Amino acid sequence: MSGEEEPVIPVTTEEQVLTTTTPVPVTAPGKVPVILTPSSGTEGGVESWPLRSSIPIWANLSTRPREMWTLTLKPSEASRYDYKPPRDPRARHGQHLQRSRTMTPAQFLIFSKHPEQETQAVSRAAEKMEASIHVLKEKLHQKHKRSLLPSDLLSTDVLSKIANISGCLPYTLPPKCPTNCMTSKYRHITSVCNNREHPRWGASNTPLARWLPPVYEDGLSQPKGWNPGFLHNGFPLPSVREVTRKIIEASNEAVTEDERHSDIFIVWGQYIDHDLAFTPQSTNQPSLLGEADCQKTCENQSPCFPIQVFANDGFPINMDCMPFYRSSPACATDHHGVLLGNLSTLNPRQQINSLTSFLDASTVYGSTPAIEGKLRNLTSKEGLLRINTQYFDNGREYLPFVDRVPSPCAQNLKADKVERIECFMAGDSRSSEVISLAALHTLWLREHNRLAKALKKLNPQWSSETVYQEARKIVGALHQIITIRDYIPRVIGPDAFNQYIGPYKGYNHTVNPSVANVFSTAAFRFAHTAIHPVIKRLNAQYQNDPNLPNLHLHEVFFTPWRLIKEGGLDPLLRGMLATPAKLQVQDQLLNEELTKKLFVLSNNGSLDLASLDLQRGRDHGLPGYNEWREFCDLPRLRTETDLVTAIENRNVVKKLLELYGIPDNIDVWLGGIVENILPGARTGPLFACIIGKQMKALRDGDRFWWENSNVFTNSQRHELRKYSLSRLICDNTDVTALPLDVFMLGKFPEDFQSCEDIPNINLEAWQETFQQEFTCGLPTKVENGDFVHCSEAGKSKVTYSCYQGYKLQGEAQLSCTKKRWNMDPPVCQ
Ligand code: HEM
Repeated sequence: MSGEEEPVIPVTTEEQVLTTTTPVPVTAPGKVPVILTPSSGTEGGVESWPLRSSIPIWANLSTRPREMWTLTLKPSEASRYDYKPPRDPRARHGQHLQRSRTMTPAQFLIFSKHPEQETQAVSRAAEKMEASIHVLKEKLHQKHKRSLLPSDLLSTDVLSKIANISGCLPYTLPPKCPTNCMTSKYRHITSVCNNREHPRWGASNTPLARWLPPVYEDGLSQPKGWNPGFLHNGFPLPSVREVTRKIIEASNEAVTEDERHSDIFIVWGQYIDHDLAFTPQSTNQPSLLGEADCQKTCENQSPCFPIQVFANDGFPINMDCMPFYRSSPACATDHHGVLLGNLSTLNPRQQINSLTSFLDASTVYGSTPAIEGKLRNLTSKEGLLRINTQYFDNGREYLPFVDRVPSPCAQNLKADKVERIECFMAGDSRSSEVISLAALHTLWLREHNRLAKALKKLNPQWSSETVYQEARKIVGALHQIITIRDYIPRVIGPDAFNQYIGPYKGYNHTVNPSVANVFSTAAFRFAHTAIHPVIKRLNAQYQNDPNLPNLHLHEVFFTPWRLIKEGGLDPLLRGMLATPAKLQVQDQLLNEELTKKLFVLSNNGSLDLASLDLQRGRDHGLPGYNEWREFCDLPRLRTETDLVTAIENRNVVKKLLELYGIPDNIDVWLGGIVENILPGARTGPLFACIIGKQMKALRDGDRFWWENSNVFTNSQRHELRKYSLSRLICDNTDVTALPLDVFMLGKFPEDFQSCEDIPNINLEAWQETFQQEFTCGLPTKVENGDFVHCSEAGKSKVTYSCYQGYKLQGEAQLSCTKKRWNMDPPVCQ
């Protein structure tokens, strides 16, 4: 939706800046004005960046006489640092498909980490800004023969100018938060203005929060492990592949099953992770000027940070390096919303979360207006989401396919070659990554439409927008309830839950809910160790079905066709309900399906999830294991004896010391996953702390948290409490019996209940009477937009908004006074 009453993000155009900066001042005492004269036009097919005029740059070199500098950014430099439109794996795949029908695992990773448009714009701006600073730093270094930090030479004013021209400024200035029906009743799709004093807290496309400052090898942006021979605490970091091989990797048969939890417990974790965090990665396109191609290079050259694969390392494919793209930098801001990121030692490189941090079902609705616009069925009067119009599952809906085809998802090689089954489209772009994840996305699509139809029946006077927003609000609340009430206590255990989360005490506007870098890059990846290498599909009696054999994990990556052509959702869900999860065991961490066959759909390459996790932590400059223990008030572990108190497997402890030399250097993800599991939990104390703190922040810092007063009525809250994941499955599939608590592993039939006995929500709590709402009569519907109503201080009001791509003209909010609307409705153009 867009319109005048949308949060307003200030944008200063390039032209505006250039007119204010043309004359070059030469007077500021103790400062050197520098002119950056960037190149324009293109050379050799390389797009140059859009700095088309000089910018006066003041260098704070008090010991130097004043002098004038001209920095010219040559096309070759531009090509080195400039953002290239990402190689679109979908478009490329179109050609590729005609040749070989499959993509390499690395291309699948690019596809699954492919940023959507708005994220691309943020990344592009941040990369340009970082490149500008880098070029300036190098030039000044050449001239002054000493290392200079950007903060030595750039005033805030100049930084703002660079930020503006690079395109960062709009993403760093605080947006205005309007107050109307829409903004007080419903969360914005980007979650901007959830916190009215800190409007970007938790919003999509903002930096991941830092709970501890990052550790980069140059203090600014170079990952840990970037410079060969660089020592950390006197020791070099071991290669991530070596760590994987020696400590993490386990054969597919080395699975100890979890006696308490079912596989859906793990899948819910991945689904919820995709509600909270998506860290886009840089994508580069090798130029004609000799720039590195991250698909091929074995050298650390930004944005490539390849993972070395050694001879005899057991990797299935003969390759020297596994491709790795660094995560995109963010246009970072400090807590006042002032631009500071990427510019000084105090403000080193940050990474972006392109999703809303909140538990808000962004997996269903998206995190930007553009995605939301694609997912909605705007022609329906019932506020529905779009569905797949080609295929149905026993009459029930599937997710729609992505709009850019052919998509890279695998095809059934035995099927008719003309029939293609594309990747699914959902609120998060990774929905087709594994079919079990796609199944959860599908359940929620069905639930939204089911709820919306029921709400419209109860409230025929509601506009389509109202029905959509009310159903979205319920679905969001259900995500929160299932996660905080049912899932998290089992992950971190009852004691850590009480210690770090505790009972809800109301909204706290001082809490920053943004997802923390350490949470998404390390702690919440804990469950990569609990992924079962085998997927089961079961019949209505929860027995194996000869037509649906067990599959290895690598056979279900990016394969929506298996859902559609191999029995629909039900057999897969039954498999998740009745199969035990894999247990995280210190010497059985990730199975070969993940360390040797990640995203392998044919024999044209391979990836290793454990190495990606470790390398990602280093890419983001996450401090080491002991720093995080200290952050959590856990004792630092300095010696082998100390380590054994936290990690009982002595063999693992020995290998950790052999590889890292010193406990401080242990990568935090690894340290977290090898710790002894807490009682009643599925993580050790470190990750219980980080996950607990994050969940508390997501709950207490959310103005729209379902338990916050005025979000739902008492009777609505009473109904919502009855809800469960088992009810979701009952209402949206033909599964008729399942455990009441689906995260707990049960035996069929004794532990399974009939859907008839599983509590349900009574939606009458959402029924409103016509008189209550519209004493002024129904507001006029506008073309290309819609309205929602609310009542404030006994007064009826409506707020209009426009569909994505249309701009609202006129007043957005109308009030009902003396039985008449106070003005004409606006128009959407
Ligand atoms: C078959 C199941 C799964 C697969 C194939 C998978 C695969 C991946 C991949 C390829 C990445 C990106 C790695 C990188 O380049 O940094 C990733 C990230 C992540 N995964 Fe998983 N994962 C699975 C299950 C899970 C589960 C069960 C959880 C948690 C309960 C989880 C949590 C995360 C988190 C938090 C991230 C970081 C997200 C971000 O910030 O972008 N994953 N996963």
